[in-house]
Amino acid sequence: MTATEWNRLVVARKSPLADGIMGFELRAPNGGELPAFTSGAHITVRTPAGLERKYSLANDPDERDHYQLGVKRDPSGRGGSVDFVDHVNEGDVVDATDPRNDFPLAANKAGYILIAGGIGVTPVISMARHLLTTGVVNFHVYYVTRDPDSTAFLEEFSAPEFRRKVTIHHDGGDPAKAFDFWPVLERPKGQHVYCCGPRGLMDAVRDMTGHWPSSAIHFEAFSEAEANRPDDTAFIVRLRPSGETLEVPVGTTILDALRAVGHTLASSCESGTCGTCRTLLVSGEADHRDLALTEDERERYIMICVSRAKSPELVLDLGSNL
Ligand code: FES
Repeated sequence: MTATEWNRLVVARKSPLADGIMGFELRAPNGGELPAFTSGAHITVRTPAGLERKYSLANDPDERDHYQLGVKRDPSGRGGSVDFVDHVNEGDVVDATDPRNDFPLAANKAGYILIAGGIGVTPVISMARHLLTTGVVNFHVYYVTRDPDSTAFLEEFSAPEFRRKVTIHHDGGDPAKAFDFWPVLERPKGQHVYCCGPRGLMDAVRDMTGHWPSSAIHFEAFSEAEANRPDDTAFIVRLRPSGETLEVPVGTTILDALRAVGHTLASSCESGTCGTCRTLLVSGEADHRDLALTEDERERYIMICVSRAKSPELVLDLGSNL
């Protein structure tokens, strides 16, 4: 791992995007151009309490003078979003990395199905803005939220340029009123699907796209609350062939536990979507929490950045991750 390089950016604007979602506009202190990004990219910011959090960039990549973030204040998370929303104000200077993209928009003549749930709209609106700006017309945004008040960018998505390109569905928080994606996903026509949202939405889209080419389906996970679950327990990882064992405590990933004892391991998204940390699962019952492995692959591999164990011990072979 290389040390993180931080840029100092100024908070030029802070204003609510929707109930519980705060918008931030970050600019260079000298007002100049920022490092370029592509749609789907995120930056990591350091909160006032020193926590590092990844937030997607919502603006059109053609806008080089600022980064737009939408941060959902999540009281059930690990504290990063609450700290950022409550304690970062206009005029403050924050540490932020250069943009990085684990969710890039592939060139695709057959078009795009862009699916967003809740705050997952931030990379999706960047993609939609970029496609409009570059004259790509064969895309459609499906955006699922609880109600109009919790819907960021509602006005923009209602504007004439997005007419017939955006479907917004409010489910009132009732699973029985969830949007039915099957008519959208039943017949692949060469499009690429990009999905960012809560775990339940991404699982549903994953289940409904099993008959699509896997290279056409793209996920981005974002929720810090979902990284830990109340019923998580500690477990043991035993490495093959060395026999080395270590405990993975609650609140620590296998990846972090292994790094803490000196292993150098590849990772990228660290949210179970990119496939970089794929590791051979020799034995034990994994609690798979990724969106990268197929059902068949789950019998042999585990994504150690998010997945845990259902059995007291997992035996792993790090050879496939090095
Ligand atoms: S680092 Fe991307 S899936 Fe683990």
